[in-house]
Parts: sequence; C-alpha cells; structure tokens
Amino acid sequence: MERRDFLKGACRICLLGAAGAAIVDITGCSPAVGNSIFKPEVVDNMVTVPIALFNQKTFGVISPNKYPYEVAIEKKEDGNYIALLLQCTHYENQLTPTGNGFTCSLHGSKFSLDGNVLKGPAEAPLKQLKITKTNTNLIINLLRVKK
Ligand code: FES
Repeated sequence: MERRDFLKGACRICLLGAAGAAIVDITGCSPAVGNSIFKPEVVDNMVTVPIALFNQKTFGVISPNKYPYEVAIEKKEDGNYIALLLQCTHYENQLTPTGNGFTCSLHGSKFSLDGNVLKGPAEAPLKQLKITKTNTNLIINLLRVKK
C-alpha cells in the first residue's frame, strides 16, 4: 500500500467519526458564530442551505449527509457568502474549525477563515465552492469550485 493510499484511508476513517456531529458549533471561539445544527441532504452533488440560518450569525459549518467533508459557510459584510470545502489540500484530511480558521490534525497545516494557507505543509488554499443564491436558500455545489 502506498503511503498516500494509507493516509487517505486513515483520513476517511477519521471522517466517519466526525460524521456523527451534524454541524460544528464553534460558539465561544468567535462572537459571530451561532449554534444551529444543520445536516442537509446531498442531491445531485448539491446541498440547499436556508439563508435564515444566517439571520443571527455570520459563520457556520454544515455536514452534508453521507458526504466525507464538512463545508464552512461565511456571510460577508456585503451580503455575499463563501463556502469552503474543509478538505486539507495536503492529503485530503478533514479540517477542524478553530474559531479564526481551520487546522489539520494530520500534519499541522493551518488555513485562514478565507481558506488561505497560514502554515504548511499544505501549499494550496482551500477549495471555494460555487454558490447559487435564491431568495431563501444557498445552493452549494460540492463539486464545482468557484473561479
Ligand atoms: S493532510 Fe497533511 S497537513 Fe493536512
């Protein structure tokens, strides 16, 4: 077994444990964070997130049902949203929110809330997912990266 395959397998096992938590609540880490739990169904590689979840907060992490990675969503001051796939860009490990960014437990990479690398070994920023905004929902495509 190649080292990379082993690490991917280990990461997936870790993700199964993380899947038990529907949403990561990091209340207390940031004053802008709420405490809703949301685990949307994945349909055609997309999830629908009610905008109302962000009436009282500007940041949350959702756990798409049966999907290996969580997604961080941040409401910006201009009313737009960004969605980051919490998959480490080093060896694809699930990332952990810290309140002011994300950290990888496997080799210690750190990312800012905007997904930029603060500390390696990861070199690439997090994938920002494409969001389609309707009057009431954010529709996040889990496979399409915003350019
Ligand atoms: S998998 Fe190596 S730092 Fe995240």
